[in-house]
Amino acid sequence: MTQEKWTAVDRYFTDMLVPPDPLLEAVLQASSAAGLPPHNVSPNQGKLLMLLALIHKARTILEIGTLGGHRRAGQALDTLPQLAAEGCAPFDLIFIDADKPSNPDYLAWALKLSCRGSLIIADNVVRDGAVIEANSRDPKVQGVRRFSEMLGSEPRVEATAIQTVGSKGYDGFAIALVTSE
Ligand code: DHB
Ligand code: MG
Repeated sequence: MTQEKWTAVDRYFTDMLVPPDPLLEAVLQASSAAGLPPHNVSPNQGKLLMLLALIHKARTILEIGTLGGHRRAGQALDTLPQLAAEGCAPFDLIFIDADKPSNPDYLAWALKLSCRGSLIIADNVVRDGAVIEANSRDPKVQGVRRFSEMLGSEPRVEATAIQTVGSKGYDGFAIALVTSE
């Protein structure tokens, strides 16, 4: 199997099942023109998130997403306590898709900002399979490994992780249901 085939299959399903969204297209073009990396989720992954939000009847959704980079990560870690202080929590669905070295911190915040029944979803936890490399020197790999360990030992959640291939390559996402406060 090749990247070319994964991309073609993504296009096949996206063309059939995910109608183009002009506003979303404009946002993606603007972010690419501004030199931001192409870290957006693929359209069919985005549709999965939308369906999960609908199935879950989520009314409050928090996206912890920074499009990469430590400067912005600092901002995310600044804004999360502000959200907590402002009483915006709990959120029904929290999507973690920011800089990967901070994933353990983001999970801690997601748990603080959730309640029983909240869904916590994290993108890019497989990283081309590098997640299994215990001695990896890549801080992103160590971030997603620590994140997975935290999920595994966290008594308040039931979680799993799913590997994916597609136009964005070989990666995967973790999904956790908060089962107790
Ligand atoms: C990276 C981050 C993402 O959110 C993504 O979808 C792909 C890659 C990264 O930081 O490498
Ligand atoms: Mg991502």
